[in-house]
Amino acid sequence: MRARLVAGNWKMHGSRAANQVLLDAVVEGVRGVECVVCVPFPYLAQVAEHLRGTQVAWGAQNLSEHASGAHTGEVAAAMLAEFGCRYVLVGHSERRQIYGETDAQAAAKFAAAQGAGIKPIFCVGETLEERDAGRTEAVVSRQLDAVLVKCKFGDAVLAYEPVWAIGTGRTATPEQAQAVHAFLRQRVGAAVRILYGGSVKAQNAAAIFSMPDVDGGLIGGASLVAADFLAICAAARTKG
Ligand code: 13P
Repeated sequence: MRARLVAGNWKMHGSRAANQVLLDAVVEGVRGVECVVCVPFPYLAQVAEHLRGTQVAWGAQNLSEHASGAHTGEVAAAMLAEFGCRYVLVGHSERRQIYGETDAQAAAKFAAAQGAGIKPIFCVGETLEERDAGRTEAVVSRQLDAVLVKCKFGDAVLAYEPVWAIGTGRTATPEQAQAVHAFLRQRVGAAVRILYGGSVKAQNAAAIFSMPDVDGGLIGGASLVAADFLAICAAARTKG
């Protein structure tokens, strides 16, 4: 049986003071489900110190595909490992769309993370235009194949995040999520955890998590509000 996982993606939000309050509440409130927060780089030290010895893991939102060298502004996997990062988001649609990250780059980052012993949370998902054109499976396959041709998926985590559902308040229906998760499941096997992301809220989490191939969530906006994030974690726990 796959253990559920709820991952918070803080994106470019936070302050030392706000993080303190949020982390205190999450540590205090999380019960019975694996939980990770993926935070901006400057807060890794704060988060590592705050969460050490707790059941909440921490991760980053990006990394360099290179091991070291003349890459101004980039952060290497080994540096993240020094901060105790256990997870890192790879291939998030905001990296792909806003920063032009390619499938090949995302795959190289996946390999770099694995090489440092950090679990990638590898994100795939289609735009609305691609969905409307009936290309959802082709798009997520292309994104995933870039990784599978060069790496074993291993204990990495897969996240299905339809781009049209991110930050829009328009979530995929549980059935839409399940259909894509089942498709992805055929590719990565029964052991891999597949998270759903895109406007997951306290009110819709339980229905989405009740789907057989949904193993938890990747949470953006709602991960910044302790009560909402905890409610989502509780919804993940109540599944079988
Ligand atoms: P929202 O939950 O804010 O829609 O963001 C989803 C996301 O992009 C998580 O990585």
